[in-house]
Amino acid sequence: MSIRRLPSELINRIAAGEVVERPSSALKELIENALDAGAGTIAIRLAAGGLDLVEVADDGCGMAPGEMRLALERHATSKLPGDAIDAVTSFGFRGEALPSIASVARLTIESRLRDSDGWRIEIDHGERAGEGPAALPPGTRVRVADLFGKVPARRKFLRSPRSEYAACLDVVRRLAMARSDVAFTLDHDGRRILTLQPGDSPARVASLLSPDLARHGVGIDFARGPLALSGVVSLPTFNRGMADQQYLFVNGRPVKDRLLVGALRAAYRDLIARDRHPIAALFLDIPLDEVDINVHPAKTEVRFRDPSAVRGLIVGGLRHALDEAGQRSAAREQSAAPVMWTTSEDWDRHPRASGGPAYFENSGIPAFAGMTDEVDGVGEEHRLFDHAPAARAEPAVEPVPTFPLGVARGQVAATYIVAEAEDGLVIVDQHAAHERLVLERMRAAREGGDVARQALLMPEVIELDEPDCDRLEEAAADLAEMGLEIERFGPGAILVRSMPAALGRPDARALITDLAAELAELGQALGLRDRLDHVAATIACHGSVRAGRVLSVAEMNALLREMEVTPRSGQCNHGRPTWVKLGHGEIEKLFGRR
Ligand SMILES: Nc1ncnc2c1ncn2[C@@H]1O[C@H](COP(=O)(O)OP(=O)(O)O)[C@@H](O)[C@H]1O
Ligand SMILES: [Mg+2]
Repeated sequence: MSIRRLPSELINRIAAGEVVERPSSALKELIENALDAGAGTIAIRLAAGGLDLVEVADDGCGMAPGEMRLALERHATSKLPGDAIDAVTSFGFRGEALPSIASVARLTIESRLRDSDGWRIEIDHGERAGEGPAALPPGTRVRVADLFGKVPARRKFLRSPRSEYAACLDVVRRLAMARSDVAFTLDHDGRRILTLQPGDSPARVASLLSPDLARHGVGIDFARGPLALSGVVSLPTFNRGMADQQYLFVNGRPVKDRLLVGALRAAYRDLIARDRHPIAALFLDIPLDEVDINVHPAKTEVRFRDPSAVRGLIVGGLRHALDEAGQRSAAREQSAAPVMWTTSEDWDRHPRASGGPAYFENSGIPAFAGMTDEVDGVGEEHRLFDHAPAARAEPAVEPVPTFPLGVARGQVAATYIVAEAEDGLVIVDQHAAHERLVLERMRAAREGGDVARQALLMPEVIELDEPDCDRLEEAAADLAEMGLEIERFGPGAILVRSMPAALGRPDARALITDLAAELAELGQALGLRDRLDHVAATIACHGSVRAGRVLSVAEMNALLREMEVTPRSGQCNHGRPTWVKLGHGEIEKLFGRR
């Protein structure tokens, strides 16, 4: 075996394997270089998702011809004046990007210092392909064409222009959010996609993710010791089917870290359904010696010295902000909902003249869907109306006392409570609301350490798979804390001794089976506390008033009064609203009186 030193050309290609995976990774390096050069405006042009062309032009400091040649050499950087990598605040510092890209594409750099002429250098897959004068404004323009054109093994792994474009857009979004003080434009195949003026961070985030975040978002501003967290997250009711709009910035650097996923899930536990996801853009400021940014060549991953402190900060900060926003915004959301009814597409398609009542029937639920970007649970809700009409009414004889949720006047479809409040008509989803109340009751009891339990006269034996039994047995001590006492009963069975009193009289078998499934699904992914919260939500669901159960007026009023004093009662455990209000003004509008 003979050992040899590799030629620099080959070294660059090997490095390119790590730094340049696809057009979006080249784009990321170029934008970061422009930001490091102090650019105030960055213009990006892409063709065919970056497969044909990636171009980044900036108005930064520029380079002299000699600096340009040096920049194309491996490990040549202007960003490490001393030798302290830990103290780096620029995006780059490894001096690898330009030579790596140049080794696997046709790279053209044009650059001009202020008060000087421009110069151009071209490199084709590692070979010098010429240089000469160039005409451009002060700054730098880098063009990457024919990526992997001579590296068929890599070209094969590139995807369609469409998905490469999506990856490029993601890169632009992240960096544009990280630096709201810089202006960006993005053109794709000759079309202007983005024009971003410099502005404050919340405005930049909203313009990149969703303009509705301004209304349906919560600002975060939270500090713990030397760590600080700012940014914006969506209210639980404003959620998405995919976790694709969750961004974390560490000291201004966009990073991808699984820690964020877990922390968000924990912060929104029981506020949002498990298959729905919040929108988040979070900016973490952390002392430089608490984080290592040099763990990945593309620097998109970081390593925290104390990950649990960071996680705690995020969960704590979000929880705090969401709790505070909870009551207030839930009410605001819900008073906004009827307005959306009136402006729903249905309504536009069937103008008022076609009759008022129909509008109630078919536009209510889709209007909620409009608050998220997908229709959520519509099928389920609509099926409820398949019941035979079942409505009872209370005569409105007494004056209405000033309860925020009003007094119950009746029940519709044995599922919705209709109440009259001083300022309008309130409709409550009885199951969603009660489920929430039970969960909050259980949580309060657990935190206060006095959970009431109800012993079963005859302990119930429930047969399950052995792994299910193992998981339940493992959780037995925690379940007991919630009032659910179980014991292992041979290899394939569980004995239930007592149930949480908050539940009334639930079906033990259904509850235990659901819990087993829940524990299996959650696995070790979540911390103990989060798992318990999920379990509590499952238990709460079993103990709640079902849709379809007829309630007495006293029961309905009791439910309303408890909702008024229970935190987070405006949303069910799956993040949907538990009640909506149609204000007097809105009712008048419906009938054309205004
Ligand atoms: N757009 C630009 N404007 C000014 N200088 C640049 C630009 N892009 C690259 N450079 C110079 O080229 C050097 C090498 O860039 P790069 O290979 O990306 O390595 P790094 O960013 O890690 O230093 C940089 O340190 C910088 O001095
Ligand atoms: Mg760089």
